[in-house]
Amino acid sequence: METRTQVGIIGAGPAGLVLAHLLRARGIDCVVLERQSRSYVEARIRAGVLEHGTVDLLTSLGLADRLHRERMVHHGIELLFERSAHRIPLTELAGREITIYGQHEVVKDLIAAWGGPLHFSVSDVSLSDLSFAPTISYVDASGVSQVLRCDVIAGCDGFHGVSRAAIPADVLRVHQRDYPHAWLGILAQAPPSSEELIYAHSPRGFALHSMRSPTVTRMYLQVRPDEDLAEWPDERIWAELRARLDRSDAGWSLADGPILERSVAAMRSFVVSPMQYGRLFLAGDAAHIVPPTGAKGLNLAVADVKVLADALSSFYATGDSAGLDAYSETCLRRVWRVQHFSWWMTSMLHPTGDDPFDLELQLSQLRYVTSSRAAATSLAENYVGFPFP
Ligand code: APR
Ligand code: PHB
Repeated sequence: METRTQVGIIGAGPAGLVLAHLLRARGIDCVVLERQSRSYVEARIRAGVLEHGTVDLLTSLGLADRLHRERMVHHGIELLFERSAHRIPLTELAGREITIYGQHEVVKDLIAAWGGPLHFSVSDVSLSDLSFAPTISYVDASGVSQVLRCDVIAGCDGFHGVSRAAIPADVLRVHQRDYPHAWLGILAQAPPSSEELIYAHSPRGFALHSMRSPTVTRMYLQVRPDEDLAEWPDERIWAELRARLDRSDAGWSLADGPILERSVAAMRSFVVSPMQYGRLFLAGDAAHIVPPTGAKGLNLAVADVKVLADALSSFYATGDSAGLDAYSETCLRRVWRVQHFSWWMTSMLHPTGDDPFDLELQLSQLRYVTSSRAAATSLAENYVGFPFP
């Protein structure tokens, strides 16, 4: 079977789905291909912090009604170290807020609102002829071989996708840094124990208190990259969270509850350049991975596809390919800013345990960023996100 479209999108994660909606809003045809089933994609628990700009974009596309009804809006975060908590007033310092709303909720809303062609459970996806007549071959959910002819392909298939591998190795430059720790994450049926997120630096390791709703919390513990979840029964998880979130101000206690989901995620910084090759354009995790400490993964994916949709829109409207030609360069400016911020937050908040010099540097950075308005403002403006280009 052979079909044709203007933009072939591989991957129905935040990058692919936001791009599809942006293109449709501009009258550009596209087809989305997804390897997993709809239920799998919608149930995949990931992060949950949306930048101001991401919410504005989803709102402008008419995709944020449920988000606005159910979200939690935060105007600050807490940094907890040496058993004392320090608030960073994000909105006061950077004039913008953050939104707490699960990534899988965003994905659910985008799929529910998408009336166009979206094929789940496809397999054997391969890309060819990326220079002149880009083509995606795949097998659809009913086992039929398909060929999708496109003007351009958007590789939104994440870190483990096929798109990045379609770019010749001698063309692609890979920048990578792996961190000597991972995050053990839980979703728990427990009310949040604080109004805002708590990023905790303790001698026992990092911990993060986040949330999803007034009855569901999301928490993370710094663990070894090869940590075995089987060694972490519920009581041990709660005991460790209590120890790392321990603070001197009386009256604070951590509410616990049944753990609904748990996972261990490696921490790495990863960037490829260029993010385009011929008529193939990479976006989101297909091109870059950030450690989760800066809460940037989803937001950076949205920033990429905003650039791509604007470039495609002017290309189709005027034939002007300047935006497309500069796609990689434009995206990488923001990618490296976000990489730096995520590396900086990770380095400041994750004790490595074996180097007292490092520990003193971390504590000095934490004392500085919580006592200098200039330093706190720098953190705040990076955390809430810079306006989209
Ligand atoms: N064919 C079709 N679909 C594929 C293929 C393939 N060969 N390989 C992967 N996919 C799909 C995955 O199943 C996934 O649904 O591509 C999608 C990629 O989505 P994400 O991994 O969510 O990546 P992205 O859309 O770039 O969003 C980045 O998601 O993972 C979080 O922390 C990350 O927040 C970041 C955000
Ligand atoms: C989350 O709520 O899942 C979350 C929040 C902040 C982070 C990472 C994840 O830095």
